[in-house]
Amino acid sequence: MDALVSLAKRRGYIFQSSEIYGGMNACWDYGPLGVELKNNLKRLWWQTMTQWRDDIEGLDAAILMHPKVWEASGHVENFTDPLVDCKTCKGRFRADQLDQARCPQKPSKSPGQCGGGLMEPRKFNLMFKTHIGPVEDAGAVCYLRPETAQGIYVNFLNVQAPARQKIPFGIAQIGKAFRNEISPGNFIFRSREFEQMEMQFFVKPGTDMEWFERWRDARIDWHKALGLSADRLRFHPHGPQELAHYAKAAVDIEFKFPFGWQEIEGIHDRTDFDLKRHMEYSGKDLSYFDDAAKERFVPYIIETSVGADRLALTALVNSYAEEEVKPGDKRTVLRLHPTIAPIKAAVFPLVNRDGMPEIAQKIAADLRKRFKIFYDDTGAVGRRYRRMDEAGTPFCVTVDSDTLKDQTVTVRERDSMQQIRVPIAGLADHLEKACAFEAP
Ligand code: GAP
Repeated sequence: MDALVSLAKRRGYIFQSSEIYGGMNACWDYGPLGVELKNNLKRLWWQTMTQWRDDIEGLDAAILMHPKVWEASGHVENFTDPLVDCKTCKGRFRADQLDQARCPQKPSKSPGQCGGGLMEPRKFNLMFKTHIGPVEDAGAVCYLRPETAQGIYVNFLNVQAPARQKIPFGIAQIGKAFRNEISPGNFIFRSREFEQMEMQFFVKPGTDMEWFERWRDARIDWHKALGLSADRLRFHPHGPQELAHYAKAAVDIEFKFPFGWQEIEGIHDRTDFDLKRHMEYSGKDLSYFDDAAKERFVPYIIETSVGADRLALTALVNSYAEEEVKPGDKRTVLRLHPTIAPIKAAVFPLVNRDGMPEIAQKIAADLRKRFKIFYDDTGAVGRRYRRMDEAGTPFCVTVDSDTLKDQTVTVRERDSMQQIRVPIAGLADHLEKACAFEAP
C-alpha cells in the first residue's frame, strides 16, 4: 500500500484534501490521472446500467433532501456505529474495531491502555448535519445524504411514469455521499466524502430472490470483465446478525486488498421496506399498478451499490506490479484495463529531427478527437515507456525513420511490451478495438 500511495501522489492520481493546511482527514482530491480513472469507471458503470439495457433509467437527485426522508429510511435512528472514548487521552474509537486501533498518544499501545481505560460504548450517528436557509435553528436541520439510494426511492413514480417502464425495471444514480466515519482509513478505502454508483431494481414481490441472485452474479462478472483477478474476488453472504435493518438478504462482493478481504460492492434485497416507510411518512401512495395482471402492489427492491472511489482503489491495487524486465532492469507498471486507463496512448517522435516531431504531433492531434493522448519528446524512448507504464497507459506510439518511408508507426503494448507496426491511417481504429470493454 505504501508504494501505491506514493505512486498515486507522484503521478498525480490522488492527493490528500487541503494538504497545504496539514490535510483534511478522510477527504481526497483527484489529480489529472485520478479524475480520468474515476470518470472512466463511472462512465463504464453508467453505460452498463443505462445504455446497454433498456430496463434501467438514470437519475441525478439532490444531495440535500427533506429531513423526514432520513427518519423514514431509518437512518436517524439506526445509522450509528458504537463509539468509545478513552478517559485519559480522549481518543475516540469504534467499539467493534478496537483490535485494529492504536492509542493516538502512545501508538505502541491499544486503546485505553494509556491510563484510565475506556468509557461505556454509545451510539454515534454517522450522518453529517447542516442547516438549510439563513436561520440555524432545529427546524432548519438537514443532512448530507449518507447514501444516494433514498433519492431514487422518493422519485420511483416520477421516473416510472414518463419513462413508461413496467416492473421489473431499475433506476441508476451516481453521486456523492457523506459519512462521518469514526475510523476512516486505508487511503481512499473508507472516506468521509465519497461517491456511490447505486442501482435500485423494482420487482414484483415473490420474484425478488430470483432477481437478487441474477444481480449478484451479473455484478461479480462485471468486476471480472474489468480485469479484477478472479482469485482476489469472492462473495460474502450476510448472516442474520449482519443484515442491515432494511434487508432480507445481502451479499458483499469482496476484494483481497493488502489489508485483507474487504467489501467493494453490496447487493441487497431491501424488500418493500423503503417504499412502505416513505408512504407512511409522506402520506403519498407509491404503489404500482400492473396493467396486465390488473393488480396493485408495492414493489420489492434489489439494490446494487458500489463506491466509485473504492473501485478506483481496487483497480489501482489490482493493477500495481513491480517487475524485473531483465536482470538489473526493473519497472513499476499499472496494468489497468485499457477502457479505464486515464491516458489511452502516448505519442513519441523517436528523435527530435527529420520531421518526426511534426508527424508525431499531427498523429497526437488526430487521436485526441477520440482518446486522451499524451505527447512526449523528452529523454530516451526507454525512459518515456517507463513513465507511461507507471501511469498505466496501455499503448505507446512511436514515429521513427520507417514512418517516413511507409506511413506506419510502432505501437508498443504496456503489459507484454511487444511492439507491432500499424499504418497511421488505421491507428485510431486499432486503439479503439484494443481499449474495448467486453461486456459480460
Ligand atoms: N445504499 C446501500 C449502501 O449505502 P453500503 O454497504 O453502506 O450500502 C455501499 O455502501 C458501497 O459504498 C460500499 O460497498 C462501498 O463501495 C461504498 N462505501 C460505503 N462507505 C464508504 C466510505 N466511507 N468510503 C468509501 N466508500 C464507501
